[in-house]
Amino acid sequence: MVIVRDLVKTYGTGANALNGVSMDVNAGEVLVLMGPSGSGKTILISISILGGILTATSGSVTIDGREIVGMPEKELPALRRDLFGFIFQDFTLFPALTALENVAVMCRLKNVPHPSRQAAELLESVGLGAKLKSYPADLSGGQKQGVAMCGRCCANASGDFPERRRGCAERWRSQDSALAPR
Ligand SMILES: Nc1ncnc2c1ncn2[C@@H]1O[C@H](COP(=O)(O)OP(=O)(O)OP(=O)(O)O)[C@@H](O)[C@H]1O
Ligand SMILES: [Mg+2]
Repeated sequence: MVIVRDLVKTYGTGANALNGVSMDVNAGEVLVLMGPSGSGKTILISISILGGILTATSGSVTIDGREIVGMPEKELPALRRDLFGFIFQDFTLFPALTALENVAVMCRLKNVPHPSRQAAELLESVGLGAKLKSYPADLSGGQKQGVAMCGRCCANASGDFPERRRGCAERWRSQDSALAPR
């Protein structure tokens, strides 16, 4: 659960980019953040959901009971690795690595056993079994998204691996992609 309270972000000019934002995000909840350009969406996400990529001027963000505002920078990478999965608009895949290698890197970071084998299983579960050796440049936008998602599922989900893989496939299907196994 993510609890944001009275979050303020001020830049040098003195203007508040965030002016006391509060929100709760419960486990399993899907949240869509909408607002005019410049209203602070990216800053809110970068402080809270992105695991402290930006620091707040004041306020509180607790993730599963842990306060991340003011958390020492050296503690944040492990938190990002273990609690968050980001799929950026450009998918942030490593261009010199194949689809399989991209997912396996994420599995390795998470100390998942047999990272290459499990990366292959994840990719197969979302219908990308024929693309394991393809580089990102040779994949469609939706396929890149699938690779990015497999990497995030692998790095994030708890529980045993079959469960993790099913969860990944389910999330992928929920994207209503043409790639999704039906
Ligand atoms: N480094 C910075 N220094 C000063 N002001 C900044 C900085 N970064 C962002 N801002 C300001 O903070 C406000 C919120 O920016 P933010 O990027 O969160 O907007 P947004 O809601 O994501 O907009 P968009 O829909 O255009 O992506 C904007 O007015 C922006 O100009
Ligand atoms: Mg933005």
